[in-house]
Amino acid sequence: MTDNLKIETRNGVMEITFARPEKKNALTGEMYLGLVDAMERADKSDDVRAILISGAGENFSAGSDIGEFLSRVNRTEEFPALRFIRQLAICETPMVAAVDGNAIGVGTTMLFHCDLIYASPVARFHTPFINLALVPEAASSLLLPARIGHARAAEMLLLGEPFSADQALSLGLINGIAPAGEVLGVAREKASLLASKPRNALRATRRLMRGDPDILLDRIREEAFLFDLALRSEEAREVFMAFMARSKSKPA
Ligand code: COA
Repeated sequence: MTDNLKIETRNGVMEITFARPEKKNALTGEMYLGLVDAMERADKSDDVRAILISGAGENFSAGSDIGEFLSRVNRTEEFPALRFIRQLAICETPMVAAVDGNAIGVGTTMLFHCDLIYASPVARFHTPFINLALVPEAASSLLLPARIGHARAAEMLLLGEPFSADQALSLGLINGIAPAGEVLGVAREKASLLASKPRNALRATRRLMRGDPDILLDRIREEAFLFDLALRSEEAREVFMAFMARSKSKPA
């Protein structure tokens, strides 16, 4: 479907790698649709017990591809990103993430749907929606305050401040920090451990821990409506155009 996603299933673990390191693993529509397809396959398969997500190169993901955002603003069809976000809310297969470097925008908010998260010492978690004149997505406006309390969530979502790996660990957002170069290995071990557990009980436990998916889907709908309005605003367009112009003006 796209060369920018690598998907391999081995010993009960579906490993999904964002493979667009030259663009800091920014996610395109094709990548989102590939992710939806992979998660659907994992849920239907008796052989997949856990999903492991990571990014190629030195970053997890720089979030949605900003160039695509700009080109989609005047189109009426649904954003593939929204399909991915909805799939995250209903995914039954336990999810593990290995985060190195930047996890920006949906690169961070998708983590709130993962069960186990391991980070490298230089991981950086950033939801800069407010700085882009946008609003939070992926039910992060609900999940983040619930996880870390309103005060700290406001620093991330209202002030747009990044959190380091140490901060994320002390807030309980991640499970552990692995030494440089070892984060994928650590996450693989944990994913294998999950894959060794009884499948149905594992899925039921994840479902119980996450609560009613309809609550998440309602919030996703509400956020998406406001996100779409914000994306069409002049203030958001200015920020995005400035980012893309900065890229174009870089020396070759
Ligand atoms: N969408 C599209 N392209 C992106 C991107 C994104 N979200 N993030 C990075 N890229 C591209 C850059 O345009 C650049 O492309 P070029 O080599 O063709 O110029 C390339 O990836 C490398 O990025 P660059 O900014 O030069 O690397 P950096 O190390 O200086 O900074 C980041 C890395 C991730 C901090 C920075 O790229 C960034 O802030 N990206 C935007 C993140 C964002 O706001 N995402 C939220 C969207 S809701």
